[in-house]
Amino acid sequence: MEKLLANQFALVTGASSGIGYGVAKALADAGASVALNYHSHAESAEKLADEINQSGGVAIAVKADVSNPADVDAMFEACRARFGTLDIVVANSGLQKDSAFAEMTLEDWQTVLATNLTGQFLTAQAAVKEFRRRGPTSVSKAVGKIICMSSVHEVIPWAGHVNYAASKGGIQMFMKSLAQEVAPERIRVNSIAPGAIRTQINRDAWDTSAARDKLLQLIPYGRVGEVEDIGKAAVWLASDESDYVVGTTLFVDGGMTLYPGFADNG
Ligand code: BGC
Repeated sequence: MEKLLANQFALVTGASSGIGYGVAKALADAGASVALNYHSHAESAEKLADEINQSGGVAIAVKADVSNPADVDAMFEACRARFGTLDIVVANSGLQKDSAFAEMTLEDWQTVLATNLTGQFLTAQAAVKEFRRRGPTSVSKAVGKIICMSSVHEVIPWAGHVNYAASKGGIQMFMKSLAQEVAPERIRVNSIAPGAIRTQINRDAWDTSAARDKLLQLIPYGRVGEVEDIGKAAVWLASDESDYVVGTTLFVDGGMTLYPGFADNG
């Protein structure tokens, strides 16, 4: 059977670790050729590219700081040089710089907004321009698909993380406004909002049993998420199986946004 994303070209930003790594691997397993963007961890992006290439897929690793317009242009140019075009762009790069509000430095505020929000702006803008330049294809019903990596914190307030929560709250309206603007051109824009997924970004929240027990109180489904959970959602959102899904945030969170604190309270 032909794979769901056969003959399609994808770019995943922040693919050297965590959710981006899992999404890139899942897209490749679904038959897409994948460009793995990294910022500083060349070795792990190159290693994943090698693994994909050795198992019969196609992958390249591309360095870029997504908050830098010239880097983003060069990244898309590298994708065009290798693949000719892109059909799927996953704007995933993100980071946390946590601190209590009064102590948060302007630098930590700006660094988080620059990568998490401006980075998605620059990436999605370059994607829209590439989809317009290339026009319709036979590989997908949509002219192009953009997936924004959001978070449950696009709706759940998060004390001690105002920069991160503001960036993800921003992604909610960024994604919807962009989706509304480009849907008439058959460019589909959606978000995935992961809950607590077991990666380095939240290691403190799961790597001791005491921490894990506390975290599980926030997850009705009773387990911490894995990057594969997000990878599967990304494959579906990137495929024609979700062709009528436009401007939606898909929460993949084990029920975290069901506010389990209210189950026997309120
Ligand atoms: C954050 C994680 C956190 C999760 C649930 C994510 O967006 O990056 O650190 O564990 O939300 O709170």
